[in-house]
Amino acid sequence: MSLRGSVTPPGDKSISHRAGLFSLLATGSCRVSNFSPCADCASTLEAVSRLGGKVERRGEEVVLRGAGGKLVSTEVDCGNSGTTMRLLMGFLAGRPGRFTLDGDASLRRRPMGRVADPLTRMGAKVSTTDGRPPVTIEGAELVGQRHELAVASAQLKSALLLAGLRAKGETVVVEPHLSRDHTERLLKAMGADIAPAEGGWRVRPSEIRLPETLRVPGDVSAAAFMLTGALITPGSQVTTLGVGLNPGRVGLITVLQRMGAKLQVIEEGRDPEPWGRVSAAYTPELIATEVLPEEIPLLVDEVPILALAATQARGVTVMRSINELRIKESDRIAAIITQLGALGARLWEEGDDLFIEGPTPLKPQGSYDSYGDHRIAMTLAMAGVLCGQTLEVADAACAGVSYPDFYRDLEALKQ
Ligand code: S3P
Repeated sequence: MSLRGSVTPPGDKSISHRAGLFSLLATGSCRVSNFSPCADCASTLEAVSRLGGKVERRGEEVVLRGAGGKLVSTEVDCGNSGTTMRLLMGFLAGRPGRFTLDGDASLRRRPMGRVADPLTRMGAKVSTTDGRPPVTIEGAELVGQRHELAVASAQLKSALLLAGLRAKGETVVVEPHLSRDHTERLLKAMGADIAPAEGGWRVRPSEIRLPETLRVPGDVSAAAFMLTGALITPGSQVTTLGVGLNPGRVGLITVLQRMGAKLQVIEEGRDPEPWGRVSAAYTPELIATEVLPEEIPLLVDEVPILALAATQARGVTVMRSINELRIKESDRIAAIITQLGALGARLWEEGDDLFIEGPTPLKPQGSYDSYGDHRIAMTLAMAGVLCGQTLEVADAACAGVSYPDFYRDLEALKQ
């Protein structure tokens, strides 16, 4: 089996979330094309509607009418989506009203104290359940602060910048390493008073206005599965079209190129963010590499699929400081080690580092578990492509959390 052809991945999940959520604060209205059809972004749109925003789906397009910050006190189900919950915490904190945010069993296990604590220092009234959802927020007057984050997290950074839009004075957020900057770019495009400062970003109280139209680029984190599958499967050649190339999102491409991968990137536009096509061809001689701590935020969602590629690379690949992976939709370090290990891969953890020794032929035996985590399910599907058979994976359908047509698109590439 090989993968051949081209694929257009769904609209970017991170940018779709932000377009939807920011409409709650903004004035004006916006026709968003290529809005992500994924379950996580459906949670965001549902949240926006419940909080008083106006959302209309017209096929591939979503029309958003700004609520101008006039929100309805309510309970919000964020489903499986950490981005929905954390960004909402940030901008609900400074609004009048009482809001409760909850989610599914996976989201209820994820830490929210990292957002609640700095918000509380700004004057917010946020209560969590032992640091986890459900989260209750009562609107309060916020005062701008300087935040030095202990972890590079775009969700946390975004929550604090959004809180800063309604806080007195200036809010500054500095991260230990750079993470994706979709929030900064979109807020700036909407007229917010936001700028780089002190090695991070500062924001001042501002009104924002929706652009009339916004085209969401394709999700590079969805493209990542097809591209990596093509690199490791003999005879493959895949092109992903219309893919977002935000510098904070393309760490996988940089690392795979360092490993010798035949990967070609052609930028075709810069509005609203850089985007273009990315092609991958089977590369028989991938070489192991060391992925440094500062590179992890740039490929944080791609660690599982990069781990699969590393099983086929010569030498020991090390991914340094990947502890954030323990608190994603599943404990992804445990999931990668048990599931790829069950396929015969040689991989282990030492502290917060992951080691993978290759090349190793993978041999399916028995069944596999996605742990209800979309990125683990899609990684296992690509492991199946490499092995030339479809693996039996529990809850494989959870891929729809980020990529509803993943299996259809994959079938269309199979030759
Ligand atoms: C996201 C940030 C990342 C990423 C997640 C989406 C975002 O999470 O893993 O899938 O849209 O801001 P962290 O902020 O927890 O690193």
